[in-house]
Amino acid sequence: MTPLTSGTASALNGRLRAPGDKSVSHRALILGALAIGRTQVSGLLEGEDVLRSAAAMRALGAGIERSSEGSWTIDGIGLSGLNEPQDVLDLGNSGTGARLLMGLVASHPITTFFTGDTSLRRRPMARVAEPLERIGARILAREGGRMPLAVIGACSPLPIVYRLPVASAQVKSAVLLAGLNAPGETSVIEPQPTRDHSEHMLRHFGAAVSSAEEPDGARRITLKGQPELRAADLAVPGDPSSAAFPAVAALLLPGSQVVIEGVGVNPLRTGLYDTLQAMGAELHFGNARVAAGEPVADLTLRASALCGVEVPADRAPRMIDEYPILAVAAACARGRTVMHGLGELRVKESDRLAAVAQGLAACGVSVDVVGDTLAVEGQGGPPPGGAAIATKLDHRIAMAFLVLGMAARQPVRVDDGDTIATSFPGFVAAMNGLGAAIAPAPA
Ligand code: S3P
Repeated sequence: MTPLTSGTASALNGRLRAPGDKSVSHRALILGALAIGRTQVSGLLEGEDVLRSAAAMRALGAGIERSSEGSWTIDGIGLSGLNEPQDVLDLGNSGTGARLLMGLVASHPITTFFTGDTSLRRRPMARVAEPLERIGARILAREGGRMPLAVIGACSPLPIVYRLPVASAQVKSAVLLAGLNAPGETSVIEPQPTRDHSEHMLRHFGAAVSSAEEPDGARRITLKGQPELRAADLAVPGDPSSAAFPAVAALLLPGSQVVIEGVGVNPLRTGLYDTLQAMGAELHFGNARVAAGEPVADLTLRASALCGVEVPADRAPRMIDEYPILAVAAACARGRTVMHGLGELRVKESDRLAAVAQGLAACGVSVDVVGDTLAVEGQGGPPPGGAAIATKLDHRIAMAFLVLGMAARQPVRVDDGDTIATSFPGFVAAMNGLGAAIAPAPA
């Protein structure tokens, strides 16, 4: 564990490239590995989570090699070529890697053991086990459906129609990946739209995926099983969830002007940016283009005076990973910000609702949690800061509170900076390059 402190910064200025999108990177490795032929990927996120998925796909038989920074070659093995891994797959901190791969192996006649770090071993896996058992897999897990667990894949997988009980792109993707090796059509019905990177990536590799509205307004996503997936090069867009940290820092520090290049702007990921605009942020997206079926743009931000807002529950799936950094923006804004529908935050890398509330309170910001709603009393300027934050193996808690330290009157310390490598390797250097003052702290 490397503790870090973040001291008051004056202004952030300059340009940076957003690191590769974590969600898209996992999916590129998994689907590239299932396609026939060689896929070249550029801009892959080389964060710990994605490296775990790469190792897991190698253990399942794919040839995956790094050629240079962000550039990777995947030699796919075809849908029916998965090997039974010789050892337990350790997905580290990655809920996405774990859940997507559980889905993938569930429809293959192999047995796969999964584990992860202390954070991942606490997270609920029953939400994927349940539909995968309907497909015909058997899952043996610890109490509460937790890891370590084994997935005994179905010999004759069944196509299913599954209505998501929670708004989760991971569960949707697990079912669709399982459906790849089932005959007929597998459908997922989502009452609330969640990120659709799996759908884009499946189409990119040649699968037939359709989407239609149900009579009740829900969306039905249907995959035709047993497609022939063909290798197809792709460029991974920058991660809007990672860009969120320098973006909010630039908005909060007077005199800042920052451009973040190549940010993915899939509308199912941009809830934070809509919310910041409603708070008065001067931000705009320019130079729009498309990469691997995903919209991408450059994001320009200028320091802005923010005001508190009400964030409705139905926006949560479009910004689910951004609440820690939004709460930091809210702490510096004028007035109260109320965020509804945050139940899912309790089962992320940490209980993020508790971690955000405790961390802000320790930094002298008044917060209130009632049920799944978080209210933050904005300070209308720099909050006191001066606290030590327990990151609890949660990269986004670490980055959010380092940003708070930049804007606060007293430095903020986080107990574990290493966890940031999960999603944003090079975060400290990138932020310091713009003008931040993040440094190793005495243990
Ligand atoms: C992800 C989906 C989200 C998000 C996670 C990545 C994905 O989780 O929090 O960081 O890549 O599908 P849920 O789908 O469980 O909400």
